[in-house]
Formats: sequence, C-alpha cells, structure tokens
Amino acid sequence: MSEPTATHVDAESNSVQVLPASFYPSRLSHASHRRREDGIRALLPLESRPGLISLLVGKPNSETFPITSMQFNIRDTASPNGEATMQLTEEELNDGLQYTFTNGLPALREWLFGLQERLHGRRKGEGWTITIGAGSQDMIFKGVNALINPGDAVLIEAPVYAGTLTIFHTLDAEMIEVETDGHGVCSHSMREILENWPPSKPKPKLFYTVPYGSNPTGSTATLERRLEVLALSREHDFFILEDDPYYNLYFGPANRPPSYFELERDLPEVGRVLRFDSLSKIMSSGLRVGFASGPEAILRVMDLHSQAVNLQASSFSQMIALKVLSAWGYDGFTAHTARVAQFYREKRDVFEAAMQRHLAGLAEWTSPEAGMFFWFKLLGMEGDSEYIIRTTALERGVLALPGAAFYPNPRKTAYVRASFSLLPEDQVNEALRRLREVIVEVRKANKRG
Ligand SMILES: Cc1ncc(COP(=O)(O)O)c(C=O)c1O
Repeated sequence: MSEPTATHVDAESNSVQVLPASFYPSRLSHASHRRREDGIRALLPLESRPGLISLLVGKPNSETFPITSMQFNIRDTASPNGEATMQLTEEELNDGLQYTFTNGLPALREWLFGLQERLHGRRKGEGWTITIGAGSQDMIFKGVNALINPGDAVLIEAPVYAGTLTIFHTLDAEMIEVETDGHGVCSHSMREILENWPPSKPKPKLFYTVPYGSNPTGSTATLERRLEVLALSREHDFFILEDDPYYNLYFGPANRPPSYFELERDLPEVGRVLRFDSLSKIMSSGLRVGFASGPEAILRVMDLHSQAVNLQASSFSQMIALKVLSAWGYDGFTAHTARVAQFYREKRDVFEAAMQRHLAGLAEWTSPEAGMFFWFKLLGMEGDSEYIIRTTALERGVLALPGAAFYPNPRKTAYVRASFSLLPEDQVNEALRRLREVIVEVRKANKRG
C-alpha cells in the first residue's frame, strides 16, 4: 500500500481540509507503534452508558476518603472584599477525588474546547482533540516521544526553553538550531537549512518553538515568519510543536499575530500543528495542569503513554481549575488574563528602567513583548557570560542564568536571562546595581590583562 502523500486530504468540513488518519502512522515513533491500550481504561468510557451497572474498575470507595468538603476563595474584583468563595458540590468533590479519563475530566475538556475556539478559531469535530496533562511539560514530553526515534533530526529555535532540551537529549535527537532574533524564529534561516539539506538524509520530523514571549528571549514571532514556517512545514513535511505558555501573557502591540494552531486552519492539510497550553502562568504552577491540542492520531498515542506512566493528570487539580474557569466564564477568563498580562507589563517596565539606569552601555537587549524574561548581552565579556555570572556575580549576591543553558548544542554566549516576574522594584535595582559593579570590574581587569 502506498503511503498517503502530504497533499492527500481526508475530509472537507466547514472548508477545513484535515489530513487523513492514514497520514500519521509512518510519522510516529517506533515506541508509539508498540504502545498498547490498558484493558481497563479502554472500557472506561462505557461506564457512562445510562442504566449500566459497572463492575469494571477497582476505584476506591470515596466513603473511605478523609476529605468531605472543599471550599476556597478566589480573587474577585467585583466583590466588595475582593474575594469570592467557591464550594465544590458533592458530585464535584467525588469526581475530583476519584480517577478520571486519561485525557482529562470531560467537563474541563469541554471548557477548553470552547476556549480554543474563542482564542484560535478551531472548532471541535474538525479533526483535532484535546488531552489534559500534568502541566504542559508532561504533554511536550509525550508529544516528542510520540514522534521521535533516536537519531532523528529535529529543528529547534535557538536559544530555546532549556526544559525541552533535556527531552531531545534523552531521545538522542539530532538538534538542528534555527536562529532567532527580536522578531522570533528566523524563517529565512530555516528555509536555507532545509533547501541545503543533504538529499540522502531524512528530513527533520518536527520544529519546536515558543512563539509568544519566548523563554528565554522574550520575543514574539511575527505573522510573516509564522506563515513562512507553516509553508515550510508543508514543503518539507514536518510537524510544528507550538509550546505557548506565554500566549496569555502578551503585552506587545495590539495587532498580535495569531497562533500557528489558528493559522493552519485556513491552509490545506490541517493537522501538522501540535499545540501546548499551560495554566501554570495564569492560574497556578503548582496545580500542574496543561493541555495539548492537535491531531487525534498523535494525542491518542500520548494518551497511551500516560496510561503507562501516570494514568492521568490529577483529577483534583483539574476540578479546582474547572471550578474557577466555570465561575469566570470565557469573558472572565479574558479579563483575568488581561490583568495578568498588565501585571507583567508593569514588571517589565520596572525592570527595563533599572536596566537603563545600571546597564546602559554595558549590555544590549530588546524589550520583551510577552512573558517574564529579559535576555541581554553583556558587552566586553569576550562573548562569554558563563564565568562572570556563575562566579563573580554570584559572590556579589546576584544570580541570573548564563545564556549557554538555552542552546541545544554546546557554545559560549555573552547572553544572560533574567526573570522579572517576582522581584519588587528595590530588589531589581539592587540586583542590577550589583551586576553593574561586577561588569565594570571585570571589564577593567580584561583591559589591564
Ligand atoms: C516555554 C515553556 N514551556 C513549558 C513550560 C512548562 O510549563 P508547565 O508548568 O505547564 O509544565 C515552561 C515553564 O517555565 C516554559 O517556559
């Protein structure tokens, strides 16, 4: 049987042309093909049939659980005391304390389907689905595992979120760096890489990117670059892994670019974008709730992976998240995330003013438009920030992250990442004053030496 070509489309519903299920098997990893459904979880959905008496699952009896009620307060700008009380109903508490489906609490998935439609224009039933995980990191790990075999080539924007590098390292992927600048990934460099690809070598299977407020650079990819990357993904047959935890922390110009997930909807062959969202930056990082949206064939394999390692993300965390999200509604969600983005915009402004005050002429940077990081280059350090940050600066009582941690392949870099999410203004000023002292001293010593 011949492999379906990339131009083969399965269905045309509401003008969305979805890649067929047969497109995916040859693109999945060997491990994905070996994954098997757990016999119990395979039958779990049948339990919800009306009138059915289930003897299926060894669920513990919640009458034996110690927690009998759950109440908590949330911030509420409309209420006089600034708070609103949430009380889980008996049914919600039971569901939250019990096992649930591998892909998540059904009501939370429904809410998230609605959110993706509002934010990204992708409707349920158009060849994609949602799986909830223990943070987006969990989903990224499983997404990469679904696609990559040892030795496979992958395109990775550089610098990049260090937390995913460990995934690609573990899988022994060949990481091909695609440079970035203040406008996100340099899609023309990606084109050059792909057009000069050795004919005998299998092409990269995926491109991993953090398109909004990138960790570490804080930059956001422009629309033009996103469109070029999407076009390349079709020309050269690779998936786009869109890791977007800072999507809702955007505070740049109003005409923000759409996500890859949204942009691909209007192209032929929908089904090459695997998107990762997180509640960590907008609700709580400790709840550990994130979710993946993308092709059913890939998410199915990710679910089988979960069945083998952790069965599901915490039902309790999902229930708390659902309770808050349902109380907000979609408009409340938008209002909340706008407030969070404004909070970080103010933090960014405070940090940037302190950068101007202490590091003008000693460092270079581009102002971030989303997220919580400043990425700056130390000038006069002979292209290496590692030593000064790890030794001299640390001894003077200031800790930042040397930029080398964010490159797939070992290298020296003069860049440093500083997070502006937590510190109050006086500490920001003190930290950057200390850093200034260190830089001035080292530059003097370099000149003498
Ligand atoms: C780019 C990026 N992706 C993923 C994650 C992991 O987020 P989560 O808490 O949802 O696992 C982070 C956390 O800092 C991140 O910066």
